[in-house]
Amino acid sequence: MWVTVAIHGLLLASVMASEQVPFGRQGLWKVELDSVWDLLGPFPIHAREHHLLSPAFPLNLSHPIDYNRSWPSSYADGGLVRWSQVTSSRHGDIEISFPHVRWKALRSTEGWAALQHHAVIRTTLTLHPPSNPGSVDRTPRIHVHLKQGSFFALRPQGVDHSSFIPVWYPGNIYDLERALPLLIDLPVFPSLTEPTKYEIFVSADYELRLFGDPLVHQKDIPVQKLSIQIDIQEVQQFLSFVHQPSQDIVPDFWGGYAFGYAMGIGIQSITKWWTATDIKLKIDNPSIRLRLLYQVRIAPSQMRVVPIVIEQTSPFRGELLEFEISLRAGEEYEILFASIPIKHQSLQIGERQAIKCSFFLAGSSPSAFMAKPPTTITSTQHPPIIALHGAGVDVLSQSFWSESLPNNKFSWLIVASGRTSWGLDWHGPSARDVWESLDALTTLLEKAVYGFSGSWGLARNTRVLMMGHSNGGQGTWYLSSRFPDRILGAIPAAAYIKSQAYVPLTMARSGHFIDPVLRSILESALTSDDNDLHISNLVDTPILAIHGGDDENVPVWHSREAFATLKSWSPSANISFREDPGQGHWYPNVLNNSEVQDFVDDVTYSSRISIPSQSFTLTVTAPQDCGSLHGWRINQVTIPGRFGRLQVTWVDDSKVIVEPSNILSFTVPQSHGPFEFSVESVSGKWEMRKPQPSMTSQPPGRIQSILSSPGPITIITSRKSSGNDHSAALRLAYVLQLYHRLDSEIIAEDEAHTRTAGTWPTGNIIFIGPPRSPFATDILGQRRTSARTINHDSTIHFGTRKFQKPGQALMFSHPHPTQNNSLMLFILYNDDSGLERAVRVFPFRTGVAVPDCVIVGAMMDTLGAAGIEGAGCVGQRLAVKRGHDLVSPLTRFSKRGP
Ligand SMILES: *[C@@H]1O[C@H](CO)[C@@H](O)[C@H](O)[C@H]1NC(C)=O
Ligand SMILES: *[C@@H]1O[C@H](CO)[C@@H](O)[C@H](O)[C@H]1NC(C)=O
Ligand SMILES: *[C@@H]1O[C@H](CO)[C@@H](O)[C@H](O)[C@H]1NC(C)=O
Ligand SMILES: *[C@@H]1O[C@H](CO)[C@@H](O)[C@H](O)[C@H]1NC(C)=O
Ligand SMILES: *[C@@H]1O[C@H](CO)[C@@H](O)[C@H](O)[C@H]1NC(C)=O
Repeated sequence: MWVTVAIHGLLLASVMASEQVPFGRQGLWKVELDSVWDLLGPFPIHAREHHLLSPAFPLNLSHPIDYNRSWPSSYADGGLVRWSQVTSSRHGDIEISFPHVRWKALRSTEGWAALQHHAVIRTTLTLHPPSNPGSVDRTPRIHVHLKQGSFFALRPQGVDHSSFIPVWYPGNIYDLERALPLLIDLPVFPSLTEPTKYEIFVSADYELRLFGDPLVHQKDIPVQKLSIQIDIQEVQQFLSFVHQPSQDIVPDFWGGYAFGYAMGIGIQSITKWWTATDIKLKIDNPSIRLRLLYQVRIAPSQMRVVPIVIEQTSPFRGELLEFEISLRAGEEYEILFASIPIKHQSLQIGERQAIKCSFFLAGSSPSAFMAKPPTTITSTQHPPIIALHGAGVDVLSQSFWSESLPNNKFSWLIVASGRTSWGLDWHGPSARDVWESLDALTTLLEKAVYGFSGSWGLARNTRVLMMGHSNGGQGTWYLSSRFPDRILGAIPAAAYIKSQAYVPLTMARSGHFIDPVLRSILESALTSDDNDLHISNLVDTPILAIHGGDDENVPVWHSREAFATLKSWSPSANISFREDPGQGHWYPNVLNNSEVQDFVDDVTYSSRISIPSQSFTLTVTAPQDCGSLHGWRINQVTIPGRFGRLQVTWVDDSKVIVEPSNILSFTVPQSHGPFEFSVESVSGKWEMRKPQPSMTSQPPGRIQSILSSPGPITIITSRKSSGNDHSAALRLAYVLQLYHRLDSEIIAEDEAHTRTAGTWPTGNIIFIGPPRSPFATDILGQRRTSARTINHDSTIHFGTRKFQKPGQALMFSHPHPTQNNSLMLFILYNDDSGLERAVRVFPFRTGVAVPDCVIVGAMMDTLGAAGIEGAGCVGQRLAVKRGHDLVSPLTRFSKRGP
């Protein structure tokens, strides 16, 4: 990990932190991590269950640990497991495996699901005080980088734990690129006179998607490979912010002009609330000017990418861009100097060079993608190709993916980032990233300055050819079936259909305890991700599906099933399935072969739009995330969380039969109207009207929608700079940045309270606080959902139910206080343990099944989803869905605006 240290505006040092941070330097704190770890496991779990169970499961960290005790686990012969030990390498690498388990026998009956397992590991962390404690920092913090583990927590050693509530910090489970370590406070200050010991606990979860099938290495035993690095961060007066160059976003230049006017500079605050207020070039340059897109306030320990606009009047040919960013914290002013290398490109016809382009996602967050111009010049414009990479592929630093794609003879090739190498599996913000990358390139090509011919341009809102491999193959199914009218053809390769079909959820611990009705309500949060359920939308899209016949990572079964499902909707669907016998998950010609090339050339050259079938079915679950099919669009579903279907059958040119199910409103194609049909709220009859913009926001259907923010996310905490809700806010800001490159600003409740329609920036809001907090009471008092707080007993009520037990917290979607295109999420907790549970189920990864509203409780620690006390979707007007006893009645968004 590279850290550039800025001290009073001087770039002082650039150190390899894990190797060269001077741990033992005279006079400083020293951190020591015992290399012997205690290990308990394995326990059955499903792919995302560690977000619900306690990461320390089966331990209760409020109790002392009995290392002699055995625990029930169906993995073990005899049904019991005991503690063992594992030793980490000098660099903090840990390999966890359970060779005594008869994996082969388990796999033969339980399949891949049997390989997924949970374990907990612990060791001791010791902080040695400086030899000369006189002038040192009394409150050192630590940097922790946990790779491929899900969560970690620290517990002070040698004290009574009966009231200890662990704070679980997120790991970098995907080993995402350019990850910064988490900078955290120790649970108690270390002693200045003697070594202080803490225990560190890590949740180690074997996920097949991450660690693969051991059979690939001719082994039966699954092995988890984690790594953990811990360094000390002394809080010292002079080190209060740093430039993190790994987080910068800088476009390539072409012909002296930035290929994208967006730039981003990663700044991490170490101690204070710094605000980046201004930027200027070190030496004035008549051809280039920089300005901040907006002022950025950075919480202590937070890293934000400061958005900078590049403005040019003439070509800039410099090798370096040197500038100063002004920072302010209260009355204190500082300057951060930065010197950014510029890559100048000159693209030649036929060379298939890639250029890095930049844009502001949602008009606010600096983002980048790679593009390759067409290799031949033709007299007309051709639709672009969009390529979606597989999980773990970082397109900004690796070129093999774009080099493995077929030749883009006539078209631009867009190699999208999807936010990060995993993103949200091309859904949510990753899907938005794809469309906005295309818009950004379209805008760039309209600019004359780059000096290429007009036929290289792109039409606004052009249709595209979509292709992808693995996770990107899945993304190709996803984007094509949710935006069929934007797709000319699709090439999904080695794709999985949906997460639940990839590694089944059958080994879920919660499965033995949960009411199936509660389970179905929770899993409805996955419906809008389920590609098979939306495949009806592809009956008129040319598709070439590809899969290696011996794929060891995504079984070929998935493509065969997707093919069969589409053929069931329409036997005449134009889909070909190419199964490459004997091939595995990746092979160099998976997309570089003559069949793909012919398909690409045909689709991009002809730009032919398929003739609509006489009868087709549009399926939509989350209307806000979907486009139209042959111009037909579903605007609102009646019961969120369930899909809506519109069956359209043309009788003749003038007569069409439309059969809606679970639809509140839909629009007919422009060519026939435009008209919107909606269900009249009182009579329940259909009425026709001109399309009208909605004054209220759509009920989102699931909490994950909070990630699809039209601007930086504002996280409001009830206390500034302290307390567990502030720590929770920092953890959310960290995962949003690490997993999705989504920006967030943390503000305190009293500031939020003063905001009005004019002063709320565009973007979603997350509120974290206890029910009695004045901001929550105020917003909920407007009764736009059925959640409300009652001042005198400081508990939260949902409909007629009151939630007041220790360990509980509520997390639910709510309309934004003033905006109809933004959302709000409340996390209201009765106590710190409830808050911890709610933060763990915050769905920053795909497959964490949380609908619009969940009430978490203490039993979740041991029972997973079965410990959830209530769940539901926020409905709209006609919503009538009944849960079982545990499930709170559905709530509604009221029509009343702010
Ligand atoms: C953990 O132990 C504490 C203290 O005994 C207890 O209050 C709490 O309920 C336990 N948690 C669970 C999930 O059993
Ligand atoms: C664990 O077992 C060892 C050896 O049998 C014994 O000496 C020790 O007292 C036991 N510890 C506890 C906490 O029961
Ligand atoms: C793609 O296939 C062509 C033809 O077989 C070959 O010449 C080329 O090297 C391949 N490209 C890559 C990146 O493998
Ligand atoms: C299917 O789509 C491909 C690619 O556009 C096209 O070449 C082919 O003619 C289509 N087949 C039919 C039967 O329409
Ligand atoms: C939000 O409301 C404004 C009018 O206040 C309207 O112009 C706009 O289209 C609405 N947006 C949505 C997404 O409904």
